[in-house]
Amino acid sequence: MIKNGLILGIESSCDETAAAVVEGGRKVLSNVIYSQIDLHTVYGGVVPEIASRKHIEKINQVIAKALADAGVSLPDLGGIAVTYGPGLVGALLVGVAEAKAIAFAADLPLVGVHHIEGHISANYLEHPELEPPFLCLVASGGHSHLVAVKDYGTYEIIGRTRDDAAGEAFDKVARAIGLGYPGGPKIDAAAKLGNPDAIEFPRAKIADNAYDFSFSGLKSAVLNYLNGCRMKGEAFCKEDVAASFQKAVVEVLTEHSMMAAQSLGMSKFAIAGGVASNSALRASLEQACRDRGIAFYRPSPVYCTDNAAMIAAAGYYEFALGYRSGFDLNAVPGLRIGEKSGVYPEKAAI
Ligand code: KG4
Ligand code: ZN
Repeated sequence: MIKNGLILGIESSCDETAAAVVEGGRKVLSNVIYSQIDLHTVYGGVVPEIASRKHIEKINQVIAKALADAGVSLPDLGGIAVTYGPGLVGALLVGVAEAKAIAFAADLPLVGVHHIEGHISANYLEHPELEPPFLCLVASGGHSHLVAVKDYGTYEIIGRTRDDAAGEAFDKVARAIGLGYPGGPKIDAAAKLGNPDAIEFPRAKIADNAYDFSFSGLKSAVLNYLNGCRMKGEAFCKEDVAASFQKAVVEVLTEHSMMAAQSLGMSKFAIAGGVASNSALRASLEQACRDRGIAFYRPSPVYCTDNAAMIAAAGYYEFALGYRSGFDLNAVPGLRIGEKSGVYPEKAAI
């Protein structure tokens, strides 16, 4: 077992440089996030080269602050957990190289963590009573998945997006209506001032898997609506478009999630990922779960978007299951949920 249960988590898969110290997979001792959002806003999205360079500049300071805030030094730690995929390869490499260097220098066990498994594990940080099995809706900038968490470290994908991720749709629609990047929080705020029933946008149904999602048709419908307004020389109400679009996304995510939870007989339902911080989605799923007698779990918004506490939590359970990584751990930009690459049963690690 890992000494003290104290894990240093490191996350650098996209545009947040983050480090955290978590005890026993559940208790956050520190959570430091350097967000690069301002740097990428002028380009309307994340620029991979800029992200990698900024991670290199910031990662040492972020880790030093995470250790200082937690009041621990490297010899106190039981191990290091680092995101090794999926994500931007250059960005991932910064965290992976850093984690390997610290593990080597301080002679600490190392384990690579899947970013989405990290998002799911964010639910353990504030809900000490939550244990698998449960169903989790993961909705972020790059992923929209319904995942059955059968046990610690055992995941089964029940549904997924066929095209755009939910967060991607938020970001693209926000850009089209002139709200800027990142779109999710801006649509969330604008929608509070708009009428969700002003415009009837489509809700996509997938014929061969009722739990899958599709958001590209909805995104096109919003773009067509905006073009129609422009061609007729009519002004559109940003707040109404934001509220109507958000309602369509929230309805589909809620409906599919509840269908899956009920047919799998799940009594616990959790949400994760950046879109899980959306206020309308949280309210809708909370109500839907209450109506069905399903226990509802959601991380605070700071643990929904990218952070390293969730990576430390997932890493703790990987260590507990006997997984380790060696110095051959590499970034895997297309890593699939449940896949292991450079993460081995303890005795086999290099
Ligand atoms: O999980 P995350 O921080 O990074 C990825 O792993 O992708 O998710 C970022 C995504 C972005 O698309 C952002 O627009 C969306 O989460 N997001 C939101 C909200 N806050 C962030 N979407 C809807 N409503 C929000 N309040
Ligand atoms: Zn993420």
